[in-house]
Amino acid sequence: FVTNPLLRTGYHFQPPKNWINDPNGPLYYKGWYHLFYQYNPKGADWVNTLWAHSVSRDLINWNVLGLALEPSIRSDQYGVWSGSATILLDGTPVLVYTGIDRPDTPYQVQNVAIPKNKSDPLLREWVKPDYNPIIVPDSGMNVTQFRDPSTAWHIDGQWRILVGGEKGSHGQAYVYRSTDFKHWVRAKHPLHSAINGMWECLDFFPVLMQGKKGLDTSDQSGRVKYVLKSSLEKARYDYYTIGTYNSRTERYVPDDLNGDYHRLRYDYGKFYARRVLVGWANESDTVPDDIAKGWSGIHAIPRKTWLDPGGKQLVQWPIEEVEQLRRKSVSVTNKVVKPRNHFEVKGLETYQADVEVSFEIPNLERAEPFDHAFSNDAQKLCRMKGADNKGGVGPFGLWVLASANLEEKTAVFFRIFRDGHGKPVVLMCTDPTKSSLGHDLDKPTYAGFVNADVSSSGEISLRSLIDHSVVESFGAGGRTCIISRVYPSIAVGQNAHLYVFNNGDVDVKVSRLKAWEMESSKMNN
Ligand code: FRU
Repeated sequence: FVTNPLLRTGYHFQPPKNWINDPNGPLYYKGWYHLFYQYNPKGADWVNTLWAHSVSRDLINWNVLGLALEPSIRSDQYGVWSGSATILLDGTPVLVYTGIDRPDTPYQVQNVAIPKNKSDPLLREWVKPDYNPIIVPDSGMNVTQFRDPSTAWHIDGQWRILVGGEKGSHGQAYVYRSTDFKHWVRAKHPLHSAINGMWECLDFFPVLMQGKKGLDTSDQSGRVKYVLKSSLEKARYDYYTIGTYNSRTERYVPDDLNGDYHRLRYDYGKFYARRVLVGWANESDTVPDDIAKGWSGIHAIPRKTWLDPGGKQLVQWPIEEVEQLRRKSVSVTNKVVKPRNHFEVKGLETYQADVEVSFEIPNLERAEPFDHAFSNDAQKLCRMKGADNKGGVGPFGLWVLASANLEEKTAVFFRIFRDGHGKPVVLMCTDPTKSSLGHDLDKPTYAGFVNADVSSSGEISLRSLIDHSVVESFGAGGRTCIISRVYPSIAVGQNAHLYVFNNGDVDVKVSRLKAWEMESSKMNN
């Protein structure tokens, strides 16, 4: 049943079939959003990935074009791996990507490609200039851990890009500089480094200290902070820090000097990303199952991203264009859910849905005491105290993709603790341990703390985008995000139900809930 076609998503980005991983080089050009992605045209496993290409007017409906980059020159003949796009000062888009140029070890170099015809808004053909590769590893560098060039930024007449690497067990953000985008010289020091292994898919960009507007990587006009994001090869998740950047010393310093250990995450689930917009979510079942299904991997719904007014974290929200897919809806207001109770949200199909709910926070007197041993490990706390584990204030939240008699259900919920000073500590979790009666599935619990002042607002909100086998959730207006892949065996299609539950000791009130059926988007077919 894991190969049930009803588990294929209806509005999350994916190719018609086969393996997909990282988003590559997203760019906007002459009215079209372009998205490239690591893709295996021959199968549903990670082999021989290259750059496929899709375009969209709204980031939700996509048309597939031909392959953009495949092995064709000496310096990419054994692989065309991840990279980024930069728009040069004259408006020309350039792709910078990692090429594998040896068969035995994945020796990594960086190449560029430019449009064959700049007047084609669809940028269908890309050429690789003969000055490739533009960057090769220096002697003494780890040549098999040197990849995924970032979007460039331009300050004082010079371009800079980052290339991720590893030295000893320190992740490295190597900086390369150029005036002509052809000749690149490495800066003496890396922009930043930390002891957590290879840094893949680096990204570095400014965010405004006030407001939600996004900035170009080269923008220096406002009061900004910088975000440095890396994807940890060993742990398979993204994390970021927020800090300051000095373009003269070419150094980045995180505001929280322990930020590399606290590891704020774009998303606490299966999210492996480039830039702020899109992330890759891999599968939760086995490689043979992927091959049997004929597909593997999706991208998250693009997210608008901005700096929280407190300046300590990013906030993310699905781009508003996704709301065009909303159809029939139902609402619930001011409904109290008693301890150990639940109710079903009826009147619509929920296997492809968008749900927004606000909970009134009850009196915190009954909240469980918070054990500071878990301050850095929300996931462990949530594994121990899953959705069925009775609590004080919560767990309360949604059961999504649930079967009629609840033997299958994925729980997305909050659990509120109190620290020694009586201050609330909010945990948000996705617990998929009951999501499927199927065997051999990867069902990890995902969790993060929610940095929201629930005692003064008196409320906490949750939004979940449900899409057959994806549950993508946003807590407290996007302060904590969790995307998860689940494979129900019964709660499939019209047999999928939606509930609100409360497994705490005190009443919880749903002040508002609105759920919409979602239409499928045009997805590369
Ligand atoms: C990340 C990654 C990149 C690499 C690409 C190859 O998922 O391992 O570091 O460039 O995938 O597909």
